[in-house]
Amino acid sequence: MVTMNCSSHKEAREFGKLPSGETVELYSLKNAKGVEADISTYGGVVVSLKVPDRSGALGDIVLGFDDFNGYLMPPPYFGALIGRYGNRIGHAQFTLDGVTYHLAKNDGDNSLHGGKRGFDKVLWTARPLGPQSLGLTYLSKDGEEGYPGNLSVTVVYTLTDNNELKIDYTATTDKDTVLNLTNHSYFNLAGQGQGDVLAHQITINASRFTPVDKGLIPTGELRAVAGTPFDFRQPHAIGERIGASDEQIVLGGGYDHNFVLDRAGEGLSPAARVTEATSGRVMEVLTTEPAIQFYTGNFLDGAIRGKGGKVYGRRSALCLETQHYPDSPNHPDFPTTELKPGAPYRSTTVFRFSTGS
Ligand code: BGC
Repeated sequence: MVTMNCSSHKEAREFGKLPSGETVELYSLKNAKGVEADISTYGGVVVSLKVPDRSGALGDIVLGFDDFNGYLMPPPYFGALIGRYGNRIGHAQFTLDGVTYHLAKNDGDNSLHGGKRGFDKVLWTARPLGPQSLGLTYLSKDGEEGYPGNLSVTVVYTLTDNNELKIDYTATTDKDTVLNLTNHSYFNLAGQGQGDVLAHQITINASRFTPVDKGLIPTGELRAVAGTPFDFRQPHAIGERIGASDEQIVLGGGYDHNFVLDRAGEGLSPAARVTEATSGRVMEVLTTEPAIQFYTGNFLDGAIRGKGGKVYGRRSALCLETQHYPDSPNHPDFPTTELKPGAPYRSTTVFRFSTGS
């Protein structure tokens, strides 16, 4: 790995300061086609992502803030790296190797997205890898947020010349632990702040999803999507069935569910495809993960003003968080999220952008 300090990376600049006085940097990646991504060392946040529409005009398609202080409010995980555990752990506890670990209850009785100070709220160390790639590292100490093991995490963001934002996650631990990393970007393919995403069309390559209880914890069932508003095996507008009386839609206030991917085998597999008619933008998501959280920004309520003063109303963006299933440490039947010393964690997700008619 080629390492340079920040000052020798011409694309880095100061984004802001933490209350501790530490400097937060913003790195700009750019590919040969002019696609740009700005990444913050605080939270590993994708602050902006500019991709072309069908006329070639670049537009920023992720929610966020121009001013670093916006990220200290804190916002609902805009663009951030999520860890140690993406999504919820029921009753904020789990048992591993006979020991029960207690986590912060930051979402009712449950733990959400790593706890009070998850990976979205820590300062990562930048390892610039050239104009199109940025490595970020973080050492999460044994016991941090209640999780066991010293965990060494590396995330590499790469902007490829195929107009892909590729995210490679690796991690090692010195003690048995659990891990479920993801990125929490909020996308609006018409452009951030350009209204709601209800007319976006989405395809999700999943025959089953994990229904939830009222605390949004999986019940353990893997339910067929066939005949439900969760069937996105063929493209549907997000808004088409979001108002359905289906019990699961009501519990989520819309879509806020883990879809079990119909994987083709090992390696990167197509997970979802989103299209937006006015811009012509298309986003495909590929992942090595077994599942994806489809969240339609149901909790956004217009209280946040983001980049360019835009008001972020209900359902003004969608998240596609590649992941293992929520609450897996309490569901032995789910694919395991256990990580052991000597067996590194590896996960890759690609967001691929193009345009269509
Ligand atoms: C969860 C939502 C939560 C959101 C936080 C999503 O991953 O599924 O329930 O509100 O993150 O903004």
